[in-house]
Amino acid sequence: MYLSSDALASPLVPYTAGLTPEFVAAKYNLPLDQVSKLGSAENHFGASPLATEAVTRTLGRLSAYPEWSARVLREKIGAKYGYDPDRVVCGCGETEIMSWVIRAFAAAGDKILMHEPCFPLYHKIAEAEGRVPVFQPMGEDFKFHFDDFIEKIAPDVRVVFVTAPHSPTGKMPAEADVRRVIEAARDAVVVLDEAYVHFSGSEGYIHLAREYDNVIVMRTFSKVFGLGGLRVGFAIGHPRIASALMRMKPTWNLGQLQIAGATAALDDDAHVAKTVAMIAEMRELVTGAIRKLNRFRVIEGSKANFFLLQLPEGYDSTVVWGRLLAKGVIVKDGNIDFRGIQGRFLRIDVAPRPHMERLVAALASL
Ligand SMILES: Cc1ncc(COP(=O)(O)O)c(C=O)c1O
Repeated sequence: MYLSSDALASPLVPYTAGLTPEFVAAKYNLPLDQVSKLGSAENHFGASPLATEAVTRTLGRLSAYPEWSARVLREKIGAKYGYDPDRVVCGCGETEIMSWVIRAFAAAGDKILMHEPCFPLYHKIAEAEGRVPVFQPMGEDFKFHFDDFIEKIAPDVRVVFVTAPHSPTGKMPAEADVRRVIEAARDAVVVLDEAYVHFSGSEGYIHLAREYDNVIVMRTFSKVFGLGGLRVGFAIGHPRIASALMRMKPTWNLGQLQIAGATAALDDDAHVAKTVAMIAEMRELVTGAIRKLNRFRVIEGSKANFFLLQLPEGYDSTVVWGRLLAKGVIVKDGNIDFRGIQGRFLRIDVAPRPHMERLVAALASL
C-alpha cells in the first residue's frame, strides 16, 4: 500500500475521544447503570424524540441520494433565525465546517488565532492543513484577555476562533468584546462557535452574522438536541462566506438520516427546554456541593453543560482521572485533552442528579 511521505512522517496527534460507559463497565467490573459518562458534553436525556422519529421514518429512503445541499434543513434554519438559506451551510458537525473555513480562508503557512485552552480541533485541523495556530493564553485565572488577543490579529492571521460559551471553562465572552474582535479582524474571518449557546441563558450572538460580513456563526445538533452520533452542524455567514464554503463541501456530505433528523430536531422545543432546565439546576447544585468539599477550585462562571475543576496542590489530573474511572466516573483530563492547562484540571459534564451524586462522592473519597 502506498502512503505519502507526508502521512508517514506526520507528527500530528489525533483527537483523544472519550471512553464509552460499556468499556469502563467491562474494565472495572461495574454494572453499566453505575457508570457516569461526564467527559463528552453530550445530552444525558438522549436524542431529541422528534429527531429519532424522523430518522426512523426516513429509513425507507436509504437507497436515494440526499439533496446535496441539505436545502430543506438550510431553509428551516434560515426561517428559524431570520436568514436567507443561501447564507446557511450544513456539515457533519461543526467540525467539518471548521475544516472548510480553514482551507477556504487561510493558505498554507497563514495563521489561525484562538485561545489557549480551546476546543482542540481548532488547532488540530489547522496543523493538519499546514496552517499555523497562534494562541492567546488565558492564564491561571482563565480570562479571555481580549486586548492581547486583538493585538495578535496581524495581517497573516486569516481565521480567528471565538467560542461562546468557551470550552473548557464554559465562560461567555461579552458581546462588546466579540464585536471588538470582529472589528479588529476586518481582513480575516471570525468563527463564532456557539456549540453550547443554549445553556448560556442568552440568545447568543447569531445576530452578528447580519451586521458584519467577516463573521460566521456556528451551531451544532450534537449538544442540546442530543444528536452527537448523527453528526450535523451548521454555520451562518455573509453570502460571500457561505458560497465559498459550499464550494469546499464534499457534494453529499450529509445523508438522508442526518438531514431528516436535524430538520425535525429544530422543532423540538420541549426537549431543548427540559435539557436546559436540568443543566441550569444541576450546574448550581453540583458546583455548590463541590465547593463545600473545600478542597477543589471550581473555575467560576460556566454557562455551558460542563465546568472546569482545579485539583488540590500535589494532585495530577491524569492520576485522578484514572481513580475516578475506577469508580465509574468518566471525565475529561486537562493534561491529555486541552493544550495549555496541563497538570491539575478536569472538565466535567453537568448531568442529572444521580450522576452528580456519584461524581461528588467520588471526588470526596479522593
Ligand atoms: C466548542 C466546541 N465546538 C464544536 C464542537 C463539536 O461540534 P460537532 O459535534 O458539531 O462537530 C465541540 C464538541 O465537543 C465543542 O466543544
